[in-house]
Amino acid sequence: MSSELQLIHSEVLECTKCELHKSRTKAVPGEGSHDARIIFVGEGPGQNEDEQGRPFVGAAGKFLTELIESIGLKRSNVFITNIVKCRPPNNRAPRKSEVEACNPYLLSQIRLINPRIVCALGTPAITTLMGDEYSASRHHGKSLTKGEVTILPMYHPAAALYDASLKETIFHDFQLLKQMLENTETFNPSTPKSSEPSGSKQTLEKWA
Ligand code: URA
Ligand code: SF4
Repeated sequence: MSSELQLIHSEVLECTKCELHKSRTKAVPGEGSHDARIIFVGEGPGQNEDEQGRPFVGAAGKFLTELIESIGLKRSNVFITNIVKCRPPNNRAPRKSEVEACNPYLLSQIRLINPRIVCALGTPAITTLMGDEYSASRHHGKSLTKGEVTILPMYHPAAALYDASLKETIFHDFQLLKQMLENTETFNPSTPKSSEPSGSKQTLEKWA
């Protein structure tokens, strides 16, 4: 891991910037390759993640691993993290103030890794990265490009795990992800970027 990423990792482990630090067992900064072409961003650690200090290691994690392998990659090829790095008590949704307090860590991770694609898993990650008007049900599989980073919203693997139709959808969206990755390998800066839906500017300016 690059030293700057390592520094963020250490800061997260000791962070007390929001209430979530009080109930955590271990903070979960994220893991994977610092040269990753894809970053996956989930909602927040659950019980297994909180105990182990690693992201996506429970049932949803097992499914995410399967999805990653379905496009010929391994977990070690990508980077996996969450919008909040500490587990919300009883797996409640993270509060806006908690997401805002934690967001600088995520933005730094994205800036330092400089991936081609940031994959937002589930509506909380999608709204955090793209804006409040976006959701998994309406925007899954529809990417948005800003500068060098493309954000691809998807259903959360936990939502898709037990619902056959969502499962099919998320496997399909992973094939899109594979295709997008293949296209960025021959990325040409003069290729027109997809247009930017209105209202997304403010969120995306953080990427500039
Ligand atoms: N669900 C998430 O959103 N993140 C994890 O790390 C695990 C489960
Ligand atoms: Fe710090 Fe983020 Fe944990 Fe809150 S969730 S204590 S901001 S690392």
